[in-house]
Amino acid sequence: MLTLADVTKRFGGILALDGVSFQVRAGCIVGLIGPNGSGKTVMLNLISGLSRLDGGQILFRGDRIDGLPPYAVARRGIGRTFQLLKLFPDLTVRQNLELMRQPRLMGSNLQTMLASLPRVATGPSAEIDALLEMVGLHDKQRERAGSLSYGQQKLVAFLNVLCMNPEPELILLDEPAAGVNPTMINTLIRQVQHFRERGKTFLVVEHDLKVIMDLCDTVVVLDHGRRIAEGPPAKVRQDPAVMEAYFGR
Ligand SMILES: Nc1ncnc2c1ncn2[C@@H]1O[C@H](COP(=O)(O)OP(=O)(O)OP(=O)(O)O)[C@@H](O)[C@H]1O
Ligand SMILES: [Mg+2]
Repeated sequence: MLTLADVTKRFGGILALDGVSFQVRAGCIVGLIGPNGSGKTVMLNLISGLSRLDGGQILFRGDRIDGLPPYAVARRGIGRTFQLLKLFPDLTVRQNLELMRQPRLMGSNLQTMLASLPRVATGPSAEIDALLEMVGLHDKQRERAGSLSYGQQKLVAFLNVLCMNPEPELILLDEPAAGVNPTMINTLIRQVQHFRERGKTFLVVEHDLKVIMDLCDTVVVLDHGRRIAEGPPAKVRQDPAVMEAYFGR
């Protein structure tokens, strides 16, 4: 579904990604791990069109998407969450989700989104109800998103991606479990599994090994912008190069 071929990204003198190649097959959950600063978020930014490659190619369903702006990438069916939360804290939980369903807002800037707020539908939506039920946040839907616990806000951010219009086929998650308590991490794991069973594909950046072990079919390990290992999580975990990258320095 997604092919990264020799992806390279520089920031001045820093080679943030150095010819990284791997694939994400349809219906799979692929983990992208590595020490801090190894290039994981940079990779998600390149895939989602937020930053430009310096070399290589990114293909989604056989078509090149590198060079497309974020809204065009989103329209093709790629959604993402951010390492740092991006919710509207003063809108209610439900309004945050409703906002994502506005197709013409896809990838638009903050001003456009805010200007259109009064027009955002607040009518019933069985789909939003179902999503909120699933993660146990239905009774919080009228509360300000900013008043929820950090873990709850991260679940809302995850639901936000699922509410995108058009619905994404490939979902990129940047550290969905960071700062989330163990009970809610389990909720998150169940939800990702649930949506994979319904045909979604995931690329997950995560430091929490339990999440990686529970979820991923394959793991790609980055270190200093290079791919140093790839394989099933149990195997990658024992790879000497991976242990060296995490614990050797
Ligand atoms: N906009 C930028 N300008 C300059 N350097 C950047 C920029 N974005 C990332 N970098 C650098 O690229 C490298 C990779 O950063 P990246 O954010 O991808 O790390 P990461 O693997 O996501 O780490 P973490 O686990 O801490 O989130 C780092 O050296 C970082 O400082
Ligand atoms: Mg990061």
